[in-house]
Amino acid sequence: GTRRTVVCGEGLLVDTVFAEVDRAATWYGGTARRAGGDPGLPAVDLVLALSCALPSPRPGPPPAESDPDGSSAAIDAVRAELGAAGAGPLGAEGFAVARHGAVTVVLADTPAGLLYGLFDLVRLGESGFGPAHPARVRRPAMARRMLDHWDNVDVHPVMGQVERGYAGGSIFWQAGRPRRDEARVTAYARLLAACGINAVSVNNVNVHATEARLLTERLDDVAEIADLLRPYGIRVHLAVTFAAPVVLGGLPTADPLDPAVRAWWAETTERVYARIPDFGGYLVKADSEGQPGPFSYGRDHADGANVLAEALAPGGGVVHWRAFVYNHRQDWRDRSTDRARAAFDHFSPLDGRFQDNVIVQVKHGPLDFQTREPVSPVIAAMPGTRLAVEFQVTQEYTGQQRHVCYLAPWWSEILRFAPRADDGATVAELAAGGGGLVAVSNVGDDEFWTGHPLAQANLYAFGRLAWDPELRPQAVLDEWIDLTFDPASCPDPELLRRTLHEIMDDSWRTYERYTAPLGVGFMVRPGHHYGPDVDGYEYTPWGTYHFADRDGVGVDRTRATGTGFTGQYPAPWSQVYESLDRCPDELLLFFHHVPYHHVLRSGSTVIQHIYDTHFDGVREVEAMCRRWEWLARLVDPAVYARVTERLTEQLRCAREWRDQVNAYFHRKSGVPDAHGRPLH
Ligand code: GCU
Repeated sequence: GTRRTVVCGEGLLVDTVFAEVDRAATWYGGTARRAGGDPGLPAVDLVLALSCALPSPRPGPPPAESDPDGSSAAIDAVRAELGAAGAGPLGAEGFAVARHGAVTVVLADTPAGLLYGLFDLVRLGESGFGPAHPARVRRPAMARRMLDHWDNVDVHPVMGQVERGYAGGSIFWQAGRPRRDEARVTAYARLLAACGINAVSVNNVNVHATEARLLTERLDDVAEIADLLRPYGIRVHLAVTFAAPVVLGGLPTADPLDPAVRAWWAETTERVYARIPDFGGYLVKADSEGQPGPFSYGRDHADGANVLAEALAPGGGVVHWRAFVYNHRQDWRDRSTDRARAAFDHFSPLDGRFQDNVIVQVKHGPLDFQTREPVSPVIAAMPGTRLAVEFQVTQEYTGQQRHVCYLAPWWSEILRFAPRADDGATVAELAAGGGGLVAVSNVGDDEFWTGHPLAQANLYAFGRLAWDPELRPQAVLDEWIDLTFDPASCPDPELLRRTLHEIMDDSWRTYERYTAPLGVGFMVRPGHHYGPDVDGYEYTPWGTYHFADRDGVGVDRTRATGTGFTGQYPAPWSQVYESLDRCPDELLLFFHHVPYHHVLRSGSTVIQHIYDTHFDGVREVEAMCRRWEWLARLVDPAVYARVTERLTEQLRCAREWRDQVNAYFHRKSGVPDAHGRPLH
C-alpha cells in the first residue's frame, strides 16, 4: 500500500536505508523522508531510527498518545518497552522491530543494524504492518558471516575464471582485469546484505601470479570493489600468498621469523589500510595442495599466521588461516596415512599459540565438503583458538548446481552438533564464540546468479543460518520462496510453495541416496568432480579411499584396528564412532570397513542398503521432475526453462550414478538384489 516512511539518523548505511525506502516508495507508492531527531515528526506508517539520532528517552511511562500515528510517540513507547524488558544495547548489528498502534518502528544502535532491520521488515512483508506487536529484538549469532569467492583474476588454464564455479564467470574479474560492472556488484552487495553476509573475500584461496599482486600494485582494483560493497555493510578481505615477500617484495625468503619479512608484511599491510581503511584482513591457504607456507622454512602454522596477524592488528584486521592442510602426494599403498587425520594432527598441538586476530578456518568435515562427513574433530580441539567453520555453498561435490541439492538441512545438522560432552557447546556456539561462519560462494555472472535458480536458496540459507543457526531449514526455505517468487502475484501460491518444498526439502538426502553410500565419500570423477567414478580416486596420491573388495567396503578409522582417527574426538564421539554398533548408519563406511552382509542399525544389510538407496534416489529425482512440471505456469518462463533443463541432466546423471554404483558393488560382492532388479 501507500506508505509514509521516515528515516532518522546519519551515516553511509543510513543513506542506503533511505535509498531503499525511497526506491520502494517510487515503485509501490508512498513517501520517504529523512529527519534528524525531531520529536515532532508528523504522522507516518514506518519509522526507521538510529537510537543515537533520537533525543534521550523521557523517564517514566510512555507519553499519552495525542497522535496515535505520530512517530515520536511510537518510538518513545518502543524504547520504553525495550528499557522495561531489560533488552540491553541492540549492539553492532542488532535491531528491534515493533508495531505500535498504526506505526511500525525499526530501531537500531548502528547504521548496519538499521539496514538489517529494514531487510527483516522486507521479509515480513505485509505482516510487518498488521496488528500491533511488542518489540522483537534480533542480533546476529555470528559477528562475521563471510563468503569466500574462489574467483581468479586471470582465466586459469584448468580452473577457469572461477575455481569450482558453476554459475559462469566472476562478477568481479574478467580475463585478467577488473570486470567493473558496478551495477552488478552493487546488486550483489544488496543481495548479500539481505541474506546477512558482512564480509567477502574477493579472490581464490589458490593465489596465482596475477592475483598475488592484488595486495600491492593492483590494490586499487580491490579498493574499487570495497567501495561498492561498503554501503551494504560488507568488508573486503583478500586471499594472499604466503610467499608474497619473495614474489612481490623481492626478498630472498618468506620465513615468518625473519625480521625483514615481518617488516615487509607490516609495511605492505599499512599501505593496504591507507587505501582501504575498513579492510577486513587476509585469507591464507598455506602448505596446502601446492601453496607455499611456513613448512618450507621449518616453521609451523602459528609462526606463519602470527606474522600476518601482527601486520593486520594496527588496522583492526584479522587473518583467516585455513586448516585445510594435508599430504596430497600420498602413496596409495601406504595405509598408515589418513587424510582425515591431517588437520587435527597439524593444528591441535598449536592451540593457544595463535594471536587474538588469527582465525583458524576449519572445513566442517575432516575431508573436503563431501555429501556426508562427520564434524571435523578440530572444531572441538582448540578451546584457546578462535575458529571459523567453513562451508561450501558452491556445490562442488553436491551436484555442481546442475542438481537440486538444498544444503540447509545438512548445515543445520552440523551447526546443532555438540562435539564435546563436557560443555555441550554446539558447532554454532563454538563458531560464534570464535571467528564465525565462512562459505565458498556459488555466485557468478549467470543471469540467475547461481546457474541453477534453486541454488540461490543455498546462498540465502547460508547467510540466514550464520545470522541465526537455530532457524529451521524449512522456515528458511519459506522465506526464500516468499522473497524470490512473490507468492502474492502467483495464481496458486500454495501449490507453488508446497511443490518447492517437495522438491527441495529432502533434496540433499536424495542426492546422498544416489551417490556415494554411507559416508564413504568421493567416488566422483577426478579433476572436475562431477558424476560417478567409484574407483576414480582409489589409486591416486590424493588419499581418499573406499577399500572395496569382494568381501566388504569402508575405511577403518578405528583406534583398535585402523588409522586411529576416532581418537581425535572427545567422548562420547570417540566411543560412538569407534563402535560398530553405535556408529550412525550414515557414517558407517567413513569409520569402519565392514562385510557386505553387515547389518545396519536400520535392519538392512550394507549391500542391500546400497542397492535400495540408489533405486530410491533415482525415483525421487523422477518425482522432482514430475512435480516441477506442475509449476509450468506459476513461475517465470526463463526460470522454468532453466530448471527444467537442469532437472533433465540431474535425472540422467542420477541414473548413471545408480547404475555404476550398483553394478560396481554387484560385481565386487556377487550378491544379487533381494528384489531382483537389474544391477547392470
Ligand atoms: C577442494 C577443491 C579445490 C580447492 C580446495 C580448497 O579440494 O577441489 O579446488 O582449492 O578444496 O578448499 O582449498
